[in-house]
Amino acid sequence: MRFAFLLSTCLTVTPLSLLAQEAADAIDPEAATAQASKDAGTPVEASNWMVAAANPLAVQAGADVLRDGGTAADAMVAVQAVLGLVEPQSSGLGGGAFLVWYDGESRELTTLDGRETAPLAATPQLFQDDTGEPLGFWDAVVGGLSVGTPGTPALMEMAHQKWGTADWASLFKDAIELAEGGFTASPRLAALVAGDQERLSSSGRTASYFLPEGTPIQEGNILKNPAYGATLRAMGAEGAKVMYEGTIADGIIETVQGAATPGVLSLQDLAIYRVKERPAVCATYREHDVCGMGPPSSGALTVGQILGLLDSYDLAALGAENPESWRLIGDASRLAFADRGRYMADSDFVPMPTKGLVDPAYLSERAQLLAGDDALPEVSAGNPPFDHALLWADDESLELPSTSHISIVDQFGNVLSMTATIENGFGSRLMAPGGFLLNNELTDFSFRSHSDGVPIANRVEPGKRPRSSMSPTIVLKDGKPVLVVGSPGGSRIIGYVAKTIIAHMDWGMDVQAAISMPHLVNRFGKYDVEEGTSAEGLIQPLTDLGYEVGARALTSGLHAIAITPDGLSGGADPRREGIALGE
Ligand code: GLY
Repeated sequence: MRFAFLLSTCLTVTPLSLLAQEAADAIDPEAATAQASKDAGTPVEASNWMVAAANPLAVQAGADVLRDGGTAADAMVAVQAVLGLVEPQSSGLGGGAFLVWYDGESRELTTLDGRETAPLAATPQLFQDDTGEPLGFWDAVVGGLSVGTPGTPALMEMAHQKWGTADWASLFKDAIELAEGGFTASPRLAALVAGDQERLSSSGRTASYFLPEGTPIQEGNILKNPAYGATLRAMGAEGAKVMYEGTIADGIIETVQGAATPGVLSLQDLAIYRVKERPAVCATYREHDVCGMGPPSSGALTVGQILGLLDSYDLAALGAENPESWRLIGDASRLAFADRGRYMADSDFVPMPTKGLVDPAYLSERAQLLAGDDALPEVSAGNPPFDHALLWADDESLELPSTSHISIVDQFGNVLSMTATIENGFGSRLMAPGGFLLNNELTDFSFRSHSDGVPIANRVEPGKRPRSSMSPTIVLKDGKPVLVVGSPGGSRIIGYVAKTIIAHMDWGMDVQAAISMPHLVNRFGKYDVEEGTSAEGLIQPLTDLGYEVGARALTSGLHAIAITPDGLSGGADPRREGIALGE
């Protein structure tokens, strides 16, 4: 067996970034609530439409829209409006989102980039102290400094304008009723509030909502958020522009600039914000096209690189329990993350070899690095084909496991994959007067702007969008969608999505089994194995292959729908609170 040939080599990693990432992961509130049960369950089956998302109330709102003949874009607006209320820690009007759309009529694929932007007054030194050293992580996150221009409201509106047919205002009905009439706080929300009391107390409006009279809200409490209801009423009546000018916008800026750690976001940033439609980025895997969000997300490129590097290896024959499968997947991921750390950022600001990074010839040559028997002792960025000098330094960005994913298929053959976020659990901890939390997305930039004098691609720049790992994905075969999938989870999103695709396509698992299957994720050298699961049986074999291995909670929130000639088959992640529903 391969793991009889041992190498005791220590893996080479980027020590500062890895240490910082591990430290920050350990204290992120969204990471702290993995459910113990990993029951595989069975997928939900349907023939006309389906929606899978992170909360049953949100899924129900989307299902009502789809049942009434709405499109996937209509349903997304209803789902996202409810998620911003019942799962406020993960996504909402104060954050950003990426959406991948397959159009049932034109049979074309496109994407919407609703990522937050850095304020025009931001500089590459935004997260540095007077000596040029990076700020402590929480010093940067909590308060106004980390808040980027929200993109989710504008994205919801653009998706509806392009692909919706339902009356816009009607899509907020469920969310308004729940905000004004009250909803039941979920166990996950209550647990996250309990674990984050100190930071939630840092801002008065946030504290009075989540910690009324100083006591954290409890599971089962009925919560009302009339301010959020009023914001949705205004959005329904006047459109998303109410978030970008007028009273609600003024409230956002006053909150950011009046925070204990004030930020530099201004009304001008809100006024000039635009969603960008961009071509999907696709990679080839097992004669399928795996398509998703290109820059400023690293999602489609890194998922695509991992799969492209594995394409010539027979994972189906090796099987899901074979350490050799996980050696290949783990080292393919490390190679992809090395390119990600060097090259990937907002390509509107930084020349990026987007095509070269998923060029089959480049990946096929780089895949030869996987031909050995043991963990690669060292991993560094490759040289993808590009007609521009590539002179970037490796970065040190942190991305933490928050965020929320929505997958929808409607009766018209449209397919929607959208991941939305306010970054860290509860974002900047600043709640705007409009009843929504503001993001801390700017901490997805590299705090350092240079390394040894060489610029870092993902450094802060005015108007730039921070690099993301969000990987809303649609897989196509012969031009037809066969799978829609995505997840929260910070930079581990990439591993969760790649694993789910491999488990479904190579190991023949249905979508629910592919989602529920224990996670093993390697980004920078250390192998993370999902604690309390059968994957712990791979700790020793992977250690024997030369990896440093650790068990930990791996709180994904995968929502996926498989599309077959027989119908739709959906799954929701047992690690969070979501469901799939269809008819
Ligand atoms: N903030 C999480 C991400 O964009 O990947």
